[in-house]
Amino acid sequence: MNATMSLEKIKHYPVMLNQVLSIISPQHGGTFIDCTFGGGGYSQAILKFPGTKVFAIDRDKLTQEHADSLEKRFPKRFNFLQEKFSNLNQIAKLNLNPRAIIFDLGISSFQLFDKKRGFSFESKNFLNMEMGLNKYSAYNVINLLSKEDLAKIIKVLGEEKDGKIIANKIVNYRSKKPIKTSEELAHIIRNAKKKHNNYNKNPATKTFQAIRIFVNQELTELILGLIEASKLLSNGGILIVVSFHSLEDKIVKNFFNLYSNLRKSPSRYLPIKENNSNLFKLVSKKPLMPEANEIKDNIRSRSAKLRYAIRNNNSFFYPKEFKYMFENYFKLESVVV
Ligand SMILES: C[S@@+](CC[C@H](N)C(=O)[O-])C[C@H]1O[C@@H](n2cnc3c(N)ncnc32)[C@H](O)[C@@H]1O
Repeated sequence: MNATMSLEKIKHYPVMLNQVLSIISPQHGGTFIDCTFGGGGYSQAILKFPGTKVFAIDRDKLTQEHADSLEKRFPKRFNFLQEKFSNLNQIAKLNLNPRAIIFDLGISSFQLFDKKRGFSFESKNFLNMEMGLNKYSAYNVINLLSKEDLAKIIKVLGEEKDGKIIANKIVNYRSKKPIKTSEELAHIIRNAKKKHNNYNKNPATKTFQAIRIFVNQELTELILGLIEASKLLSNGGILIVVSFHSLEDKIVKNFFNLYSNLRKSPSRYLPIKENNSNLFKLVSKKPLMPEANEIKDNIRSRSAKLRYAIRNNNSFFYPKEFKYMFENYFKLESVVV
C-alpha cells in the first residue's frame, strides 16, 4: 500500500468548521488566509462561496496533493504555498487585505495515521515526527539531547510530571543502542511509567506531545504566526485560532488578552485606562468548544478550543509584558540539538 492510497482512505473532519464559517461569513465574499491548510477542509468550505479567494499555506509538502486538486477546481481563487506560518510576512507584499486569518493547530489525521511519519505510538518506522521544513527529527532529539534537557522538555512541553524518570530511562536505553522507532520509544515510556501511570490514556501521550512540539518548534511558530497575522490584518479583519492542548490555548489567550480591550488595569481600584494601543476587540473571554454532535462523530475534536478577535486600525507594537509572557517558550524550543 503506498502513501497516497492510505491517505485517501482516511476520513477527514475539519474541526469546528460551522463555527469558523459563522464567524468569518464567507457568503459576503473577500480574501481569507488559511494558515494550516492540511486536508483543505476549511479552504474548500470557504471556496464554495462564489465571491471568495483563499490563500493557503502549510509546512507539510504532502498537503500539496490536496492543494493541487483545489487549484485545478478554483484556478483564479485559490493559491497555495508550502511554508511555515511564522514566515507569513512573505506574503505581505501581495497586499491581500484578508477578511480573516485562520489557524487550526496541531497535526492532521493524515499526518497522525500515516505510520511513516512516526507520530503514532505503534509506528515501526523511523522516529521522525516532522511536520515539514524542520531542522531535526525526533530521532535526533531523543538520541542526542542531554538527560537534563530531555527531562525539561518532557515536563514543560508535555506537562508530564514524570519527566525526569522518563528522561532517565531514555538515556539508559540509548547508551546500549539508539532508539529508532516511535514504537520503541512508546515502549520505553510505558516501562518508565509502570508504577506512576494512573490515568487511562496511553502512558506515552504526554511525552509524544512534548517531543512533537519540540521537533516542530510549535509554540515558537504559534507566537510568531500570531504576530505576523496581526501585522497582515487591517481594520475589521478577524484572527481565529483553533487549538488542541492547554499550552497552545494559554498562548492564544494571553496573546489576545495582551492586545485586546480586555487588558486589565494594574489594580482593581484604579479605573481601566482608555487604551489606544490595543490591536484587537475580543468578542468573548471564553473559548468556543465543539458541539456534542461533532465530538460524537470525531472524537479528536473533543479538546478543541476556538478563540477569535477583531483587528482595529492601530499599528503593531510590542507591549513591555510581551517578553516576560513568551520568552520561556522561545528559550525552551531553541535548545541546540
Ligand atoms: C489540524 S491540521 C489542519 C486541518 C485543516 N484545517 C483542514 O480542514 O483540513 C494542521 C495542519 O497545519 C499544519 N501546520 C502545523 N504547524 C504549522 C506551521 N507552523 N506552519 C504551517 N503549517 C503548519 C500541519 O502540517 C497540518 O497539515
